Amino acid sequence: LKIAVLVSGSGSNLQVLIDKQLQQLLNIQIVGVISNKADAYALERIRLANEQQANIATAVIERDDNGKKYTRVGFEQQALQELRAWQPDLVVLAGFMRILTPLFIDGVTSKDGLNVPMINLHPSLLPNYKGLDTHTRVLQSGERYHGCSVHLVTSELDAGEVIAQAVTCVNAAESADQLQQRVHAMEHQLLPMVVGLFAERIVWLKNNQLTNRLGLN
Ligand code: GRF
Repeated sequence: LKIAVLVSGSGSNLQVLIDKQLQQLLNIQIVGVISNKADAYALERIRLANEQQANIATAVIERDDNGKKYTRVGFEQQALQELRAWQPDLVVLAGFMRILTPLFIDGVTSKDGLNVPMINLHPSLLPNYKGLDTHTRVLQSGERYHGCSVHLVTSELDAGEVIAQAVTCVNAAESADQLQQRVHAMEHQLLPMVVGLFAERIVWLKNNQLTNRLGLN
């Protein structure tokens, strides 16, 4: 399965996918990574992986709000151009911190576009706690459970169909940082598991609907 990954920061989830590819634990080839930040540590991870023949292309497409580099539309058009060249079978948002518009989402997922699924990793049990600062909000609300989700990307933020979640109990005495670290570690298990489901075609999209060979809904 050829995958393209969009990142903005540290890229620890990307690293897990790189390791699975290099160790041949998943049948994937990361064909390219787009970062919207030139200083993202994720880019260093790719440089190191490419020393081990990971063969991952990169594109840095920085957008700034003064329009000096890319406007929102310009960013999305440039990103689509990279993806068209890489021809991925699946697009993964792994710590990509910009909101995408229908221009990009349709460009990836629609029949007239690349026509491939796009998934996002989100640090909460969706549909609860969409958006930012999930760990703090979960603690403030006194939730008993928290976790992370991998879901299909649609034009509504963090609202596409959930594919899989990992759940943990919240310890009311822990800090947001501690909770964040625990959820982050769970993400490192959940994301490769879901990518593996796509790689083995156990889940796929049919007429824009998530289907699976497990017969589950
Ligand atoms: C993760 O917590 C993910 O859920 C969120 O951004 C973070 C990315 O972490 N969307 P990393 O860059 O993979 O370390």
